Amino acid sequence: MGISIVTGANRGIGLELARQLQARGATVVAVCRRNSPALDALGVRVETGVDVTEPAAWSGLAERFANEEIDLLIHNAGMLAGDSFDDVGPEAVRAQFELNAVAPLFLTKALAPRLRKGAKVALITSRMGSIGDNGSGRYYGYRMSKAALNAAGASLAHDLAPRGVAVVMLHPGSVRTEMTGGHGAIEADESARGLLQRIDELRLETTGRFLHQNGEVLPW
Ligand SMILES: NC(=O)c1ccc[n+]([C@@H]2O[C@H](COP(=O)([O-])OP(=O)(O)OC[C@H]3O[C@@H](n4cnc5c(N)ncnc54)[C@H](OP(=O)(O)O)[C@@H]3O)[C@@H](O)[C@H]2O)c1
Repeated sequence: MGISIVTGANRGIGLELARQLQARGATVVAVCRRNSPALDALGVRVETGVDVTEPAAWSGLAERFANEEIDLLIHNAGMLAGDSFDDVGPEAVRAQFELNAVAPLFLTKALAPRLRKGAKVALITSRMGSIGDNGSGRYYGYRMSKAALNAAGASLAHDLAPRGVAVVMLHPGSVRTEMTGGHGAIEADESARGLLQRIDELRLETTGRFLHQNGEVLPW
């Protein structure tokens, strides 16, 4: 059995994904900048000190996993800045791009040789990256970066299919985490359950879709 990697696994949705994958018997590798008591309590392998926006982290993780096969790669680490029209600035937009869009592409590229045939790549995106679904404006950097992540995922789906690797872009729902200041419609455990169901259903035949964790197909 190969490993299942979750980025941003020290809290929030990433922590729950790691917990539920571990509970079902997967060999989980939790990747984070700093571990947390909740993550340490899981007893999974933790790769800490990893800022996924750093190019050195991409090559460093490729080295750390040099002798392993990857079954599942979940890009969950992400950030949200408020970015109203009046207060949006280039630094916040760039920071969200680096983490939400650039990092998942280049980490996937670095780890691609380790993805076994039949492996899956899940990009935790947001319906706020949907242009068709934008009914309320603002959130410039977040919306732009998640739309860019979706574009990267659509290309990855094409480019990884010949290797037997399927890709899915997943909206986790409106989830009560630090990112949302504890507001939202569901808890992280419910979100993670839905996300893992969608990942279980993912096949090469359905690669490249943009889905809500509840199974709804979302507009680009
Ligand atoms: N919550 C929602 O309602 C919602 C809705 C739509 C989409 N999402 C997406 O779901 C994912 C998880 O969000 P969440 O709600 O669980 O957020 P969260 O509680 O704020 O967790 C974010 C995670 O990303 C990590 N992270 C941030 N910057 C990083 C970096 N440079 N390198 C490595 N890790 C970094 C954080 O680690 P540190 O502790 O080191 O900062 C943390 O583990 C994100 O991609 C988010 O955009 C969430």
